[in-house]
Amino acid sequence: MAENRIEINPYENIEVFFKQDALLVTLGKDGKPNVMTLAWKTIGELWHYPTIIVAVSPSRYSFKLLTEGVREFTLNIPSDKIRHAMDIAGSYSGRNTDKFKQANLEKIPGKKVKVPTIKDCLLSYECKIIHETDSGNNAPHHLFVGEIVAAYASK
Ligand SMILES: Cc1cc2nc3c(=O)[nH]c(=O)nc-3n(C[C@H](O)[C@H](O)[C@H](O)COP(=O)(O)O)c2cc1C
Repeated sequence: MAENRIEINPYENIEVFFKQDALLVTLGKDGKPNVMTLAWKTIGELWHYPTIIVAVSPSRYSFKLLTEGVREFTLNIPSDKIRHAMDIAGSYSGRNTDKFKQANLEKIPGKKVKVPTIKDCLLSYECKIIHETDSGNNAPHHLFVGEIVAAYASK
């Protein structure tokens, strides 16, 4: 598959990361990936690792996959070409919908993780979960800290 992207340092194009919401991809034990829209995210360095932190409500199917699956995720910042996927991934659940199919998203196999990234994204990150914690009383979301093991930017 021809990939219109290059591998980058995790902190390159960081302003693009913060400018818009993302597509979070997780993988079930059955090998099926799921995608959900995610607004609450940050990127930085923790314990000398480049990291991305995502906040996911325990009510999401994605939460189940993050806690019971391969302990990896990918985070993808979509280009305009696949902007339509944000509504689909943010309003349907992977419990009963194949959102990759519904949104016509193409997967790119992970290089350092088992979870795929998504084609036609401005930025994509492959992450391995190294820590997780509840977010306290502010909101019922769980924080997953992922070490960035590969990062890509569209050419
Ligand atoms: C713009 C937007 C941003 C969202 N951000 C988050 C988020 O940061 N964390 C979260 O848990 N859910 C967030 N959601 C909700 C999930 O995307 C939504 O509940 C989704 O259907 C969950 O899919 P799943 O059940 O397949 O995991 C957001 C939804 C939208 C539309």
